[in-house]
Amino acid sequence: MAQPSIPLISKSPRCFSSLACRQHEAQIRQRKAAIRQQIQALELSRRKFSSNSIHRHGHLDPPKPGEEIHVTFIDKDGEKYNFEVSEGDNLLDIAQANDLEMEGACGGSCACSTCHIIISDPDKYDAIPEPDDDENDMLDLAFGLTETSRLGCQVKMTPALDGLEVKLPAMTRNMQASDFGGVNPKHH
Ligand code: FES
Repeated sequence: MAQPSIPLISKSPRCFSSLACRQHEAQIRQRKAAIRQQIQALELSRRKFSSNSIHRHGHLDPPKPGEEIHVTFIDKDGEKYNFEVSEGDNLLDIAQANDLEMEGACGGSCACSTCHIIISDPDKYDAIPEPDDDENDMLDLAFGLTETSRLGCQVKMTPALDGLEVKLPAMTRNMQASDFGGVNPKHH
């Protein structure tokens, strides 16, 4: 399926006049509309090519002894799922490798918002490199955006993030309580 092109927004727009402001707002609206179209196209193609699109089973190498980094996922019902992971693993891959149902419709290319997560601890949030413009654009489209929201596919684990706790938003397309049925994540 041909992807709609996303119009570029001029760099560093400055509001010299209300006309410039309106033009910039129109550019942003146009870009967001194009992004929404891309997400819809991605989700359509995903459904087309997978009869069981929810279940993906990624693979991550286990951490070396002594280099384990701990991360906890909390679903919308408050259930906690703890994992030991390696430096460099991202949150989308961790969720999918452990059969947690984070959708990741674009495959981790920062072109959707279905891997939206919320960092519980603001200090840990600050320890993650800041989101770039693409991630911020996608976050704008996420349900239940918060001050400590990120896209799971863009957050890589580092030793500084040991003990990271991430929540799935109450309204999300990326994980439902029912999705945990029949799988066996480490559940503590
Ligand atoms: S999987 Fe699409 S933005 Fe993360």
